Amino acid sequence: MIDPHGGSLVNLISDESLENTGVLPLISLDRRSLSDFEMIANGAFSPLKGFMEKEDYQSVLNDMRLKNGLVWSIPITLPISDDQFQSLKRQDEGFITNPSGEVLGRIQITDIYSYDKEREAERVYLTTDTNHPGVSILKSKGDYYVAGEVEAYAQPEYEKFKEYRHTPSELRNVFSERGWEKVVGFQTRNPIHRAHEYITKCALELVDGLLLHPLVGETKQEDIPADVRMECYKAILDNYFPHRRTVLSVFPAYMRYAGPREAVFHAIVRKNYGCTHFIVGRDHAGIGSYYGTYDAQKIFGQFSRDDLGIEPMFFEHAFYCKRTNSMATTKTSRAMDHEKIFLSGTKVRKLLTKGEKLPLEFTRPEVEEVLRRYYDSKNG
Ligand code: ADX
Repeated sequence: MIDPHGGSLVNLISDESLENTGVLPLISLDRRSLSDFEMIANGAFSPLKGFMEKEDYQSVLNDMRLKNGLVWSIPITLPISDDQFQSLKRQDEGFITNPSGEVLGRIQITDIYSYDKEREAERVYLTTDTNHPGVSILKSKGDYYVAGEVEAYAQPEYEKFKEYRHTPSELRNVFSERGWEKVVGFQTRNPIHRAHEYITKCALELVDGLLLHPLVGETKQEDIPADVRMECYKAILDNYFPHRRTVLSVFPAYMRYAGPREAVFHAIVRKNYGCTHFIVGRDHAGIGSYYGTYDAQKIFGQFSRDDLGIEPMFFEHAFYCKRTNSMATTKTSRAMDHEKIFLSGTKVRKLLTKGEKLPLEFTRPEVEEVLRRYYDSKNG
């Protein structure tokens, strides 16, 4: 089994009972920070044990590494408002709650610092344009980060998609029970369309198993909601993927839309879940035209194999080739431009919004059926 990032898997889920914990200030987390909290606690963000202190944060922005030199491309930070800063600055511990005030865990406060949002935007998103959803969220956050190690109590907060929600150590057990040595992870925030199906199956030809790992944390509003996508994933798995070689599990992270940096982050975190390989296709985690089609692949050139531990598998822009009536890329096809049908999640959404039929070259009918129901109910 592949080593977790940094060597050992973190587990900060405690059995401690809440009654014995005393009175502490409350820090209410929004859905994005809760997702980070869950993933720190369950070891998905190993070796992180908490929200980043200033030194790690600066090092991640400058060099895409933690201060100990380990690759880490996305800051994991907990923003707080000026008022919260005033009430927490002399505290060394706090309870973490969800927006309805339920206590989910605690944080040992070891650092509180202000930060430069323009600089973070420039480094992480490669733009300061507030039309970029990651930048706009960053700019709406409180002006301070509170940092320190966390501990989580098991809570119903994590019940959603329970059957498909595995901690990294649980998924590692699943892979080893199946005898898989090489496992490729696939990140997606869309229903599986034909290009996704093609690249996942090409990858699967070379390894023992496929982890279909859809992101189910917050996404931008136009994206298809996670519960509808889960129906799509089940439909396509039931009909078109080999059960023996495929595992469906949810990835509780939220989308940053940080393109190249997020691709590296996605890969490292999948290593913690036990993947040895990770698919990076066209404009991975991108949005609009902020990143070049293959920028999220090129960034991997900055790291050695040992630095990452997990092996990226790169795929060119896949299309439906009318000459061969199959999926292909320019690497494998002789098709002329007029014989190529390019598809994307965005195009699929547009057709569905207009009530138009999705061609077979775009998506499988079972997936279309789920999407059609969702759009019909949305359009009234
Ligand atoms: S992402 O934000 O999660 O990257 P999406 O769900 O569309 O968005 O993509 C999932 C993965 O499939 C990413 O690695 C992406 O690069 C890849 N991908 C999506 N569409 C294509 C395509 N037409 N050709 C090649 N790779 C693709």
